[in-house]
Amino acid sequence: MDQATAAPPSSEDVLGRLSSLADETRTRILLLLERSELTVSEICQIVQIPQSTVSRHLRLLSQEGWLSVRSEGTSRHYRVSRKLDPGARKLWAAVREELAHSPLAREDRVRSRSVLEARAEQSRAFFSTQAGRWDRLRQELFGSRAELQLLPGLLEGTEVVGDLGCGTGQLARFLAPFAGKVIGVDQSEEMLEQARRRLSDRDNVEIKQGELEALPVEDGMLDIAILSLVLHYVVDPLRALEEVHRVLRPGGRILVQDMQRHQREAFREEMGHLWLGFSPEEFQEWLEEAGFDSVRLAEVPPEPEAKGPLLFAMRARRK
Ligand SMILES: C[S@@+](CC[C@H](N)C(=O)[O-])C[C@H]1O[C@@H](n2cnc3c(N)ncnc32)[C@H](O)[C@@H]1O
Repeated sequence: MDQATAAPPSSEDVLGRLSSLADETRTRILLLLERSELTVSEICQIVQIPQSTVSRHLRLLSQEGWLSVRSEGTSRHYRVSRKLDPGARKLWAAVREELAHSPLAREDRVRSRSVLEARAEQSRAFFSTQAGRWDRLRQELFGSRAELQLLPGLLEGTEVVGDLGCGTGQLARFLAPFAGKVIGVDQSEEMLEQARRRLSDRDNVEIKQGELEALPVEDGMLDIAILSLVLHYVVDPLRALEEVHRVLRPGGRILVQDMQRHQREAFREEMGHLWLGFSPEEFQEWLEEAGFDSVRLAEVPPEPEAKGPLLFAMRARRK
């Protein structure tokens, strides 16, 4: 029920509230919890009253609806409720007006600042000693691509994204939560089978078998086309880029990630590569010839454990 239509509080409610404020420790606690969220032990440190007493007051204030509690691990964090009704708000404003400038309230504020400062210091102290270990620790805790998982959030949420040469669907998996729709295309039925399995719980992903040189996608259908590690398998990359131009809407973007030129001839035999990477200059020429502009290029910083050739990333806009 919203506040405009809520029933007025009963006299019992009003008296309950009044009596919950008729105690110095409880008003001190409310003054503190209005400014910051605190745990019981932090409140004890500030008001310098034993934990059993503080806990009893917190229980009563919670019962009367003054506080909200957040549990995190073994800690409980208290703050003044954001959902106080207008009557309670008015009552508290009148009490606060009288008490906020008392010497005791002032002392509590000062102590509260140092308690919060000590809390912040804990994380500062951790990073001041762990800076050199952080990259490894981060990887152990969250894997090597955690920060990248965040980036698809830059999408508006309405875009149709083509993952062209989608393979087993890793990239599509990563984009789908933030895109309007993802269309994955690949020539290999075996790779697509893995992609379908990986993406079976996503209803905004469509997986299609097809060739980059003749995409099974209508003209102007895509807002974004991504070609990750695929063009070095294509006989005629310029032909594929022209086809990508056809399926992108005007102003749509192409993103390409591929290998820089390298000398590893064995990749032809071992992995079926048709191109030993590309030079950025030839790639830019192809993009412009295929009808793209605003070309931007970046060398991809290699991961320490990566054994393959260096990568580049390129983005351009369909004219
Ligand atoms: C190295 S995998 C990369 C897969 C995925 N993009 C990734 O980054 O993990 C290359 C994929 O491109 C597909 N592929 C190669 N040539 C293709 C073509 N001409 N048309 C469509 N897919 C192609 C392969 O079947 C394979 O799944």
